[in-house]
Amino acid sequence: MKKMFLPLAALCAAALMSMPAEGNASMEQGKRPLQQIPSMEKFQEVSDIVLDKCMACHSRNYDLPFYSRIPGIRQIIEQDYRDGLRAMDLNQELVTAAKDKPVGEVALAKMEWVVLNDTMPPAKFTVVHWGSRLTDKDKETILHWVRSTRAAHYATGMASEQRANEPLQPLPSHVDVDVKKAALGEKLFNDKRLSADGTLACSGCHVYEKAGTDNARFSEGIRRQFGDINAPTMFNAVFNVRQFWDGRAANLQEQAGGPPLNPIEMGCSGWEEIIERLSADAQLTAEAGAIYADGWSGENITDAIAEYEKTLITPNSRFDKWLSGDEAAITAEEAEGYRLFKMYRCASCHVGRSVGGQSFEYMDLKADYFAERGEPLNSDKGLMGFTGNKDDMHRFKVPNLRNVELTHPYMHDGTVATLDESVAVMGRYLSGIPVSDNDRTLIVAFLRTLTGEFQGRTLTGTPVER
Ligand code: HEC
Ligand code: HEC
Ligand code: HEC
Repeated sequence: MKKMFLPLAALCAAALMSMPAEGNASMEQGKRPLQQIPSMEKFQEVSDIVLDKCMACHSRNYDLPFYSRIPGIRQIIEQDYRDGLRAMDLNQELVTAAKDKPVGEVALAKMEWVVLNDTMPPAKFTVVHWGSRLTDKDKETILHWVRSTRAAHYATGMASEQRANEPLQPLPSHVDVDVKKAALGEKLFNDKRLSADGTLACSGCHVYEKAGTDNARFSEGIRRQFGDINAPTMFNAVFNVRQFWDGRAANLQEQAGGPPLNPIEMGCSGWEEIIERLSADAQLTAEAGAIYADGWSGENITDAIAEYEKTLITPNSRFDKWLSGDEAAITAEEAEGYRLFKMYRCASCHVGRSVGGQSFEYMDLKADYFAERGEPLNSDKGLMGFTGNKDDMHRFKVPNLRNVELTHPYMHDGTVATLDESVAVMGRYLSGIPVSDNDRTLIVAFLRTLTGEFQGRTLTGTPVER
């Protein structure tokens, strides 16, 4: 293949070399060596393609190339660079990520989508830069790599052969837990003594009958106090990459430490206060003592709650059954809704077993959601509120869409009342493809097939026949 793109490729390589974590000794012709793990056989080739043809617009630490000084081109490149980087940081999520772990499901789904839909590099760019287009062989290489990586690392093994490589995967029916800890955790999750005035348990805001939410725009804490962010469900939270909309808790245990001491949620002054109340309960204290040698502590309480939350998963939705090969589990309209869900890019972010929860994306990716909504909220900062990095402004953890028909209202600000409206909002601000009325109805029909089961009932309350 002729390298018409050498100056750019060389600049990309230079940009990569200036990344802080890099040791120059390991550089071979400016390309980073990649760990040879089986699913990554093809990754070196993919990374070569990406370095050549994509990094101009998809990597931080990248100086605009020399030709950006040519009048007119600079504007095109600068805008594309800003938008491209916000859509995906290929250097970070692909090349760097692959150094020590498999590339994430979101990155795989996004790469698959742009290749299948032939949108990258953008046409106005390939017109100016002959040779920057992806060849058929490039596309084949990328798609092969996407699918083999997904099969090796993300397939749950529960889908039928035909659907084994879908971006969405069946939800496992259980996750291994320490049964005793989980039993204690269940009691604590439902225990109002975790709140300062004894009125509120975790399950007071994460209500089982409301699919793990409170169906309110903002939750009511103790003494009639309200926060400014919508309560997500605790069902299937175990599959989230991090916890909270802004990801400030690394895992469920860290998360469970938040609400009890949060002044506007459960409002306790410290763990001592909670431990004092729990210690008055001889039976529960004995149960905790039998599991934890050091008895009650903030760490042990949150450990038990986190263990319990691993049991809060909702498998066997109609969609899962269909993925597993039961053709009749969903209707033709619902299957069409799923096809549209992929076509409208939804599955680029809402991926995997829990149909989301894997990445942080800009709520104003394609249009200025915040200006159009008005009424600024402190919680609008998103990931930036946690990292302090201004590049993270307005980035939110992608919600998981399991049971989504029941978890209204929607979005971090709880402003979207219906599923139908939320599909329209996503089309405008996140996908950048306006969704037609008809397609919206079909996508909503598909989303309703994601409602699963918990303890012998569907989350809508219907007993499950076995
Ligand atoms: C000239 C700049 C430019 C180049 C070169 C470029 N992109 Fe993009 N890329 C963009 C812009 C702008 C967007 C956001 C608009 C869009 O999604 O169409 C984007 C979006 C994307 C997305 C996100 C799509 C999604 O579903 O969210 C992916 C993935 C992507 N590009 C991959 C690539 C790959 C792979 C290459 C190389 C083959 C490439 N890009 C080359 C500018 C570029
Ligand atoms: C006053 C209502 C309230 C109470 C009580 C409460 N939560 Fe929450 N919960 C929320 C809100 C609101 C959020 C979102 C906060 C944020 O992201 O900043 C949340 C977030 C979470 C999440 C993260 C889910 C995700 O997708 O990121 C989990 C898990 C969770 N809560 C579990 C618990 C547990 C365990 C307890 C008890 C120790 C608890 N909650 C008590 C309202 C509450
Ligand atoms: C670029 C990533 C991305 C794409 C593409 C995307 N979403 Fe989202 N989705 C998000 C994020 C991030 C949020 C949360 C935004 C917020 O609350 O500020 C979200 C929220 C939602 C919600 C609300 C869930 C809840 O519990 O509040 C629904 C429903 C939804 N998306 C469906 C869709 C559909 C349908 C599509 C395709 C038309 C789509 N999404 C495309 C990232 C994405």
